[in-house]
Amino acid sequence: MRRAGNDQVWDGLRDHARRVVHELGEHPVAVVLGTGWAGLADLLGPTAGRLPVASLPGWPQPTVSGHAGDLRSVRIAGTDTLVVAGRCHLYEGHDATDVVHAVRVAVLAGARTVVLTNAAGSIRPEFGVGTAVLLADQLNLTGTSPLIGTGAVGDPDDRFVDLCDLYSSRIRSAVRDEVGGLPEGIYAGLVGPQFETPAEIRAFAALGADLVGMSTVLEAIAAAHLGAEVAGVSLVTNPAAGLTDRIDHQEVLDSGTRSLEHLVPVVTACGRAA
Ligand code: HPA
Repeated sequence: MRRAGNDQVWDGLRDHARRVVHELGEHPVAVVLGTGWAGLADLLGPTAGRLPVASLPGWPQPTVSGHAGDLRSVRIAGTDTLVVAGRCHLYEGHDATDVVHAVRVAVLAGARTVVLTNAAGSIRPEFGVGTAVLLADQLNLTGTSPLIGTGAVGDPDDRFVDLCDLYSSRIRSAVRDEVGGLPEGIYAGLVGPQFETPAEIRAFAALGADLVGMSTVLEAIAAAHLGAEVAGVSLVTNPAAGLTDRIDHQEVLDSGTRSLEHLVPVVTACGRAA
């Protein structure tokens, strides 16, 4: 059965996509920033235009950062890139549809490549704090999907999306060619907001996870559903539970902002590979 209101959701997405194109123009690449990383946009390139999401009625409002966020047109290595600051999370009480709203708008507004960035805990001792890790694959451990009830772009069967190459191997190999020594890892995405227990981290390691975080996995699925090529980059902000005996939220935020510049060559290479 289709979820009530599904058509309205897609009408709203298309409206926002039209606004984005009208206000900021077309962007073949979109980059979603980790929470609180608006400063990364400035490191990536000059901003040509800015659209506060508060000016888009119906845009899901993030509750964690002080401001609602904005969409920026940033020229990154010669490519007009739509940079999304102000992501929503399940742990804020948003549903999966809200969490993927920005990514869907970006793709409906013309992005054919979506680059997802996040802060992550590291399950591998060799991925130290400040390391940028290219995502090779993901474990969606959120227990939900943005595609539940979403058979809305034409054929209802399109919800059965192939994720065999979710994080594009074509982009990954181009990025690794450009950024020497770049490690790859598998990201486990959880609801949060609590950090994990050491036992959970041992279990995720046994499942094949290298990184753990509270975002990205639903956005990657939604982008693939709309036919975009997906790339992902984690910035390690802390050793995961059990690899350290304490995780402090403020320290996680601070170590992210301190090492943001490590993401710049990787995100730039993702855009260049698009
Ligand atoms: N766990 C979950 N999410 C995170 C972490 C972590 O250790 N670090 C940054 N985001």
